[in-house]
Order: sequence, then structure tokens, then C-alpha cells
Amino acid sequence: MSQNFSVSPEGVEYPLPKKEDYPEEFEKIKKLADAARSEGKEIVVVMGVGFVGVVMAAIVADTVDEDGKPSKFVIGMQRPSVRSYWKIPVINKGESPVKAEDPEVDPMIKRCVLEKKTFVASFSYEVLSLADVVVVDVQCDYAKNDLGNVRTGHVEMTALEESFETIAQHIQPEALVLIETTVPPGTTEHIAFPMMKKIFQSRGLESDPLLAHSYERVMPGREYVASIRDFWRVCSGINDKARERVKKFLNEVLSTDKFPLTVLDRPIESETTKIVENSYRATILAFLDEWSLFAERNGVDLIKVIKAIKVRPTHSNMIFPGPGIGGYCLPKDGGLGIWAYKHILGFDDDIFKFTPSSIDINDTRGLHAAELVRDALSNMNVPIAAAKVLVLGASYREDVGDTRYSGSEILIRKLAEMGAEIQVHDPYVDHWWEFANQEVYPSGSRSRFFQNQNKLTELTLQTDLQKALAQTDAVVFAVRHEDYLDLEPDKIVQSTGKPVGVIDCFGILDDEKIKRYLELGCEVTGLGRGHIQRMKDQIKNK
Ligand SMILES: NC(=O)c1ccc[n+]([C@@H]2O[C@H](COP(=O)([O-])OP(=O)(O)OC[C@H]3O[C@@H](n4cnc5c(N)ncnc54)[C@H](O)[C@@H]3O)[C@@H](O)[C@H]2O)c1
Repeated sequence: MSQNFSVSPEGVEYPLPKKEDYPEEFEKIKKLADAARSEGKEIVVVMGVGFVGVVMAAIVADTVDEDGKPSKFVIGMQRPSVRSYWKIPVINKGESPVKAEDPEVDPMIKRCVLEKKTFVASFSYEVLSLADVVVVDVQCDYAKNDLGNVRTGHVEMTALEESFETIAQHIQPEALVLIETTVPPGTTEHIAFPMMKKIFQSRGLESDPLLAHSYERVMPGREYVASIRDFWRVCSGINDKARERVKKFLNEVLSTDKFPLTVLDRPIESETTKIVENSYRATILAFLDEWSLFAERNGVDLIKVIKAIKVRPTHSNMIFPGPGIGGYCLPKDGGLGIWAYKHILGFDDDIFKFTPSSIDINDTRGLHAAELVRDALSNMNVPIAAAKVLVLGASYREDVGDTRYSGSEILIRKLAEMGAEIQVHDPYVDHWWEFANQEVYPSGSRSRFFQNQNKLTELTLQTDLQKALAQTDAVVFAVRHEDYLDLEPDKIVQSTGKPVGVIDCFGILDDEKIKRYLELGCEVTGLGRGHIQRMKDQIKNK
């Protein structure tokens, strides 16, 4: 029997709507929208209230006109799936469905839902018929079939294609449809447009659907809201009318006076811009992987190398890659481009070198971090299969709680495969979805690339760092969270009660700390930190 409720991360069960609930739901939302329209507000439906959609929806709902009066009424439309339905009742209580470190998120959602009453969430697809503007923020995933080989993967377009169909079936012909989802280049013109045009024709509509594309550069974290509202945007439209409409809309809802729009001619150009932007970042991160190995094997500290180079303003965006490159976007976006070249645009030659290699390198860097843990323990005569390892940091980057495709996940999976017992601590994460739900993870959990993963379903996050330290043979610094930067070696070893393996995956330890750990009898190692061997020899020869 299929599950008829949806569970929020807090464990609250929300019964899924039944067929008979739909007409009433639509009537309720229609009344609100009619009232808003009579007050001169534009009706905006945001489809998909995930990480991006919910904050974008709140920003639009917070928009005011020149007289400071709210000018938009937003309906956050979310399909009532077992995985995501709970977001609707949570939003309607004035609460955020995403845990955000940005203090602006919670009050903004609360203000728009409960005070200004410009934001409501609904499961009814029919609300699309009320929209002047539809903003599409549903996911478009890239499923990988092998670890470290992006080329054998494929794009999962089903959710997005279903959205295009549903939109075309319901919207008014003059509604602007703004696709914000990161899509394979060509999607707007070669997939969305023909699909929607056909449905328009079957509805007897002569006009072309007004399609536009403008990708998100959102960074869920401390600047979550600002990274959408107060940041530069690129946009495009399928024709002059759509281009003018999208410009007008974005000028109204974003701070384009300070962060001007870049308007491109065709959607394929703005779609490509997003893919190139993220592939560029994935590439500059990946290229340091080989130099990280070089540094480890030749007495070089890559952290100091990068610091020395970054003094040059032309090289200031060099970033140390840590134990892997995660987040939702960088591991997949290049894949969307490679896939589109063949499957949407119809080319059969292979022009891509850097983009796939970079993704493959970034996806597997965590494996080497696990080797370092194994070797540090082995130097202390503790076999990895008998070791307890504490990983500090679960998220994909510092000071956020987003665990999607984090390097720590690969590190932990490899350690589990080798038989280690693992504990994890992260000040920003209390539920690690990728492990707890590994059996049902959409597009396939990365557990399938490893052996011995069953136990990881029970992996829980430790909240008490002292307690976790008391039961460990190795401490892995995996994420540069602020909480970990100042941890004192003496206190750590006091808590562990014995010298342990210390593995620095992110250039967190300065030389003074490394030296102190070594003096305390710990075995220290780190990604790209070849100079530690020299420090060890110096201490031994004292
Ligand atoms: N999260 C980020 O940091 C980030 C940054 C930049 C760009 N993006 C892009 O933004 C897009 C959305 O990402 P996200 O992180 O918000 O994803 P998400 O998975 O958090 O949210 C997508 C939402 O859409 C809903 N949905 C799916 N099909 C639907 C349908 N037919 N009708 C209504 N709702 C539907 C899902 O249930 C989910 O709630 C992606 O293309 C992503 O690449 C994300």
C-alpha cells in the first residue's frame, strides 16, 4: 500500500490530500487571488517550493510598489508527493521549509504569509490558471551510473517535463513562464516550447507560450536571500515580448538598480551561461587535485602555495578543494551540458575534455581523504577495520547545513566500506538525509557505489562534541566550519584520552597546531599537506 502521508524533517506527519479536497482547495486560493487582483496585485505562481523556490517566492511576495504597497500575490505551488507535500502546510503556518543560516529567511516567510498575506502555498495545479507569471523552480537532476564517470549518466527530465505540460494545460495564454531551473542548454527552445505549443494548439490557443529563462545563482547559507534578491541576473526570452516581460518582472522583484540585469538574445544563451559558469568553477577546483597529490608526496604545503599565489589579484579566486566538491549544482551542471550536446542538440562527436574530467575528479576526491585516514591509523597500529573515526563536518561547505553531494559523504562511505565505525558531528546538521534515506534516495543513493553500507542508514549526528571525541581513534577535519577553526590540540587530546590520528582535509590546521598535535603523540596528515612529514621528522630528531 502506498504511503498516504508526508513527513517533515521534524517528524510531523501530514496526510496527503484526497481527490475530493482539490475543488475546495482551488476555490479557497481563487478567492484570495481574486481579492489580491482587485487590489491591483500581480498573481505569481512559483512552481516547486524547494531550496530555491521557497525563498524566491518569499522575495516576490515581499515586493512593494513605488508607494511601498505590496504589489505581488504569490502562490507557492508544490506537487503533493510523499517526499515534499509537508512543505505546503509548513509554509501556510508561516514557517520556512528550509533550514537557513540566513536570519532573513524565517522572518520574511512569516511576514509574507501571516502579516502581509501575500504568500500562500497550495497543492492544486489549477492555481496556474490564476497566474500572470509562473516561475518554474522544480529540480532537473543528473543521475550518475558510475562513481567518477559523469559521461555514463543521464538527465532526469521527468519532473520538469511534467511541469511544462501541466503549465501549458492550465495557464492563461498571456501568462509569462519564467524557467529558473538549471536546464540542459536547448531545453526552453527545443523541449519546453514545442511541448507547450502543442498543448496550446489542442486548447485552441493560437498564440505562442511566453517562455523566458533566467537561472538562479542562489547560495543557501548566510546570504541566502541576498544571493537571490541582491545579485546579478542573466535572462532571456523566447521572443521580444517574452524578453520584455521577463525584464519587467525581474526589475520589479530584484534589486536590479544595484545589480543590473544581463539580457541575452536567446534562452540557449542564458542556459549555457549557467552551465559554463558552474563548469568553470568545478574546473578551477578540480585542477588543484593533482597539485594536492604532488604537494603531499614532495614536502609541499599546498595551503601556503595557494595563499602565496592569491596575493596576485589575477589569481584571487583560487580555492582549495577540500575532500570533494558538493552542493546541488557543481557536481551535475557540466553533465547537463554534455548530455544536451548529444541528446537535445544532436551532435555525436565528443568535444568535452575539461568539464567531465573536473566533475569526475571532484566526485572522487573524498576517496583519497579516506586513504589518508586509513594510513594515519595504520601508522598508529590501528587497523581501519577496527577503528572508530569521528568526522567533523557533514555539509558541502563551511557554515551551512546543506549536505547534498558533500565530500564528507564519499569519505564516510569509503571508510564504512573498509570497516571503520563512524561518528559525525556538524553544528549545522541534525538529520543527514543522504544516509537516513539512502534506500529511497531520488536518482539513486551514492551507497550503490560501495560495499558494506547498510549500517549507515542508522548514522546519527552527534550533538555533543566532547562525548564524540571520547570514543574515537581518529579525528577528521572535513569542513571549515567556524566552530572547528579554533579547537585546541591539548583540549582535543584531553577529550580523546589518548593520541589519535588527526586528518586535515581542508587546510584547517596551522603549523602551530600541527606541531602541537605531533608533540602530543598524534599522527597528523592532510590533503595537500606534504610538509607535515618534515615537521614530524624535526620533532623526532629533537
Ligand atoms: N539549491 C541550490 O543551491 C541551487 C542554486 C542554484 C540553482 N539551483 C537550481 O534550482 C533548481 C531547483 O533546485 P532546488 O535546490 O530548489 O531543488 P529542490 O529539489 O529543493 O526543489 C524542487 C521542488 O520542486 C518540486 N516539484 C517537482 N516536480 C514538481 C511539479 N511537477 N509540480 C510542482 N512542484 C514540483 C519538488 O517536490 C521540490 O519541492 C535546480 O535546477 C537547481 O539546479 C539550485
